[in-house]
Amino acid sequence: MCGIVGYIGKRDAAPILMEGLHRLEYRGYDSAGIAVVDRAGGLRLAKCKGRVRELEKLLPQRLRGSAGIAHTRWATHGEPSDRNAHPHCDAGSRIAVIHNGIIENASALRARLEAAGVCFRSDTDTEILAHLIAAMPEAALDAAVRAALRMVTGTYGLAVLDAARPDAIVVARNGSPVVLGIGEREMFLASDPAALVRHTRNVVYLDDGEMALVRADGFETSTLDGGATVKTPSTISWTNEAFDKGDFPHFMKKEIAEQPEAVRRTLSGRLELRFQTTHLGGIELAAHELLEIRRIKILGCGSAYIAGCVGAHLIEQLARVPAHAEPASEFRYRNPVVERDTLYIAVSQSGETFDTLAAVQEIKRKGGRVLGIVNVVGSTIGRECGRGIYLHAGPEVAVVSTKTFTCTSVAFALFAIQLGRIRDLSTAHGGRLLDALAALPEQIERIIAREAEIVRLAEKFIGGEHVFFVGRSAGHAVAMEGALKLKEVSYLHAEACSAAELKHGPLALITPETPTIVVLPRDDLFHKNVSTIEEIRARQGPVFVVTHPGEPPAGVEGAFDVPTSEPELDPLLLNIPLQLLAYHVALQRSCDIDKPRNLAKSVTVE
Ligand code: F6R
Repeated sequence: MCGIVGYIGKRDAAPILMEGLHRLEYRGYDSAGIAVVDRAGGLRLAKCKGRVRELEKLLPQRLRGSAGIAHTRWATHGEPSDRNAHPHCDAGSRIAVIHNGIIENASALRARLEAAGVCFRSDTDTEILAHLIAAMPEAALDAAVRAALRMVTGTYGLAVLDAARPDAIVVARNGSPVVLGIGEREMFLASDPAALVRHTRNVVYLDDGEMALVRADGFETSTLDGGATVKTPSTISWTNEAFDKGDFPHFMKKEIAEQPEAVRRTLSGRLELRFQTTHLGGIELAAHELLEIRRIKILGCGSAYIAGCVGAHLIEQLARVPAHAEPASEFRYRNPVVERDTLYIAVSQSGETFDTLAAVQEIKRKGGRVLGIVNVVGSTIGRECGRGIYLHAGPEVAVVSTKTFTCTSVAFALFAIQLGRIRDLSTAHGGRLLDALAALPEQIERIIAREAEIVRLAEKFIGGEHVFFVGRSAGHAVAMEGALKLKEVSYLHAEACSAAELKHGPLALITPETPTIVVLPRDDLFHKNVSTIEEIRARQGPVFVVTHPGEPPAGVEGAFDVPTSEPELDPLLLNIPLQLLAYHVALQRSCDIDKPRNLAKSVTVE
């Protein structure tokens, strides 16, 4: 998604901005640009389609100036091109604007400006803002931005630079994140703390409907109506090193390898061995309130939604409370019934996904209770929910989610055990689950250590076009996540199907060229899954299984077994080899693993 970086202070802005853009590359983008007010008071602009390293080549050798803004764009209005890259300027090249989000009344505003004689130099909605702001040269910059934003409907996180008044940058937010970084007589701004953590960990997050006038020596925040607001800075716990690949060839590989440590952090301080239960202080629900919950609804997008499916299963099995996961986008568009005795759980790694945020806001508007399961501390969804479980998985930089899928599933297990122990989950079962959770990091390490087996397995998939993933019950969620991971990094067509549904249609597609990966835990449904394998084999479909130790069913062409756990936790371990499989198929197919085509790390538009 689009990324914003800004700097104002005592140093030259350009190197800081370029380094910030590199930090935001992981979010996915198609063009990049930078604007700096030079020592002579002129606006120096460079922008182009393509990568940040191409923008670097366009920069003048000596670009001196200590106020600037820069952007990575992910096209919404207008194709990816040099002219549509941000920043956008007014006709006099005085005002420069960078913007994340979408202006919904762009065509009406554009028509009005064109009728007044304004010539547009891009197809973007953002350029409108530059012209609107420039039309009020007498007003203070923050007042001009405020007045322009009153004419606009839509979402934005934006930064505005005025070459005539380079002592301040104005930022504003409505639906798209903006964070200010506080330095020593210098200020940073960004859409994502990753871009400023190298310089400062002292930050302030703007709320929706807020703007800030940022100067080298500080900032003032206000509402879009002009009323002053008071912000308390917070400290980012992630270090700059956490955003580095280190010796790993890809962030995806690094983040798969980090899972044992990430799971330890998600578990840390949350196992109550004395009472065979768990303790989640952040959910802020007393035992009697947990007892009153009649239903649980889980919302998220992509892998976060699928982790919610694993979570729903854990909650139903361990707490015997009806639980269901739904894509957040579907939920928010169907005028959902929000019930008093339902607990809503929003899942998001980034804490910025627009549809999930909108679902949270819809629930709150209707008086519902919502918890967040979120990785990024201080993110919008984390703050909007106000309570929940932070994963503490560390930054996830690869576009595809791996360690946060696992840690979210662990967080759901912790929650399900706490809820279950308040209800009918026995002390003995609770104790076994705590032991199994504590064993997970070492079990994940053992799976990752057998990567060479997965490399050989991956070779069998690289030449194909289609792959089916099949599973039952929680194994179906594992199949869904396996298919999503494979398709997004390797571009193979991968489809997940509930094992029982196979014969209601998808079986028609099974051929000797269409391999199927069956999620085959040795649980109560083992024999049913073996029957599914026989159905596929009868159509000459090659079958591979992720399973538990033991003799694999006859006719299976490849098997990878994972250590056994408590049955409810099996999905967490069965998923790990599928992450590695997706990685190695993509590697052997020479795909851009950390930045798959067309995808973005955090989807802050509808
Ligand atoms: C898949 C993936 C995406 C995200 C989805 C939600 O590997 O990463 O499907 O899971 O975009 O993102 P968050 O969790 O940030 O809300």
